[in-house]
Amino acid sequence: MATSQLAVIVLAAGMGTRMKSDLPKVMHPLAGRPMVQHLMDTVSGLEPDKVVVVVGPGMERVAEAVAPARTVVQTERLGTGHAVMQARGELADFTGDVLVLYGDTPLITRDTLDRMLAERRDAKDPAVVVLGFKPADPGHYGRLVVGAEGLKAIVEWKDASQDQREIPLCNSGVLAIDGKRLWTLAERITSDNAKGEYYLTDLVALARADGATCSFVLGEEEELLGVNSRVELAAAEAIVQSRLRNAAMEGGATLIDPATVWFAWDTRLGRDVVVWPHVVFGPGVQVGDGVIIKGFCHFEQCRIDDDADVGPYARLRPGAQVGPKAHVGNFVEIKKAVLEEGAKVNHLTYIGDARIGAGANVGAGTITCNYDGFNKSFTDIGANAFIGSNSSLVAPVKIGDGAIVGAGSVVTREVGPGALAVARSTQMELSGWADRFREKKRAEKTPGK
Ligand code: UD1
Ligand code: MG
Repeated sequence: MATSQLAVIVLAAGMGTRMKSDLPKVMHPLAGRPMVQHLMDTVSGLEPDKVVVVVGPGMERVAEAVAPARTVVQTERLGTGHAVMQARGELADFTGDVLVLYGDTPLITRDTLDRMLAERRDAKDPAVVVLGFKPADPGHYGRLVVGAEGLKAIVEWKDASQDQREIPLCNSGVLAIDGKRLWTLAERITSDNAKGEYYLTDLVALARADGATCSFVLGEEEELLGVNSRVELAAAEAIVQSRLRNAAMEGGATLIDPATVWFAWDTRLGRDVVVWPHVVFGPGVQVGDGVIIKGFCHFEQCRIDDDADVGPYARLRPGAQVGPKAHVGNFVEIKKAVLEEGAKVNHLTYIGDARIGAGANVGAGTITCNYDGFNKSFTDIGANAFIGSNSSLVAPVKIGDGAIVGAGSVVTREVGPGALAVARSTQMELSGWADRFREKKRAEKTPGK
């Protein structure tokens, strides 16, 4: 493939009115990040020399999300041809290849874009390469009119004849164009058509009128799903999730019931990880090799190291770090805390703002009382310490290496290494009291009542 410079124009000025949202459409998340960033990631894989995103007025959040790509504002939405013209100032002297993508079609694959660029750089030197597809329901998509000499024109559904509407080959909207010819062709686009819009698709007929050839490559319907409504957003999410699940399994993780495991775009799983059903990975989760994750766990911004064992029903919140071979059991919540190697927190526990030393055992129902209503404080538990069940560790507090805390303690002061701390009321016993109590109550009870 001849090397040539590449510029990408992403059209994202659409209001997304059918989303019924205050958020610009392309900012709606898929797998935990804005859909436009999925597209920008695919784009950056192509190592383009320039990226220009066309946004609508008031879409500063989109501009922030796509930075360092340049953004230009299309103040009036006069059609796809008009939208591309807004990028002219940024690309006036650009003579390489120009790829036009839609911000609301974020699932397009790198492979398809590579095929389009290869076609554009082919010896036939087509002025415009269009990405076509054959959807199950061609609906109101524009149609590709193809003749012996290649692609002749794209007709919009509203402008198409009955015969043209029968064509199964549709326009995805994605184009690769010769940058040397783009602006002289685009400035000839008019709005003299059924919608009164400047159609970018007119580039094909205009190039043909100049004697140039045009061609198309075929994409898959799935990657060309456009998101215009929340229903389509959910369909796109399903596709993204399915790709992420497959990638996890191809990377050496076992997903026992893949359809019930939800990933974020950046979830990283090691080899020989086993994930049981119904686990949600929020953004920023890293899992080492050999980790077992049992069902119904929820994770975000946390790390689980090699050979650890987590769940079922565990919640790891931001800043949780589960060390190698550590165990986190059911109904355990961990936030901003480190469990060192082999530490165990097996049942019904809250650990926040803490260090649990290597080999320490935290008994059922233990709570680190890290918040006094104003400040968060730290709990430090030494290596091999043993915290008896149902203890409250009132932070800031330190438990020394190897210390034991008796069950049911409320620990407010430091416990030295190797010491026993018991902080609960002393047990008393009154012999015979229960028998006497019952006897008295029976005697007092009025018969018949
Ligand atoms: C377009 C194509 C049609 C194709 C279909 C695929 C044209 C004339 N038609 O039609 O052949 O089958 O996509 O989905 O190109 N946009 C702007 N500014 C505008 C207009 C649109 O930024 O002034 C952006 C939108 O945000 C969207 C994309 O361009 O991301 C497509 O716009 P849309 O109005 O959906 O085009 P269609 O009429 O569906
Ligand atoms: Mg559309």
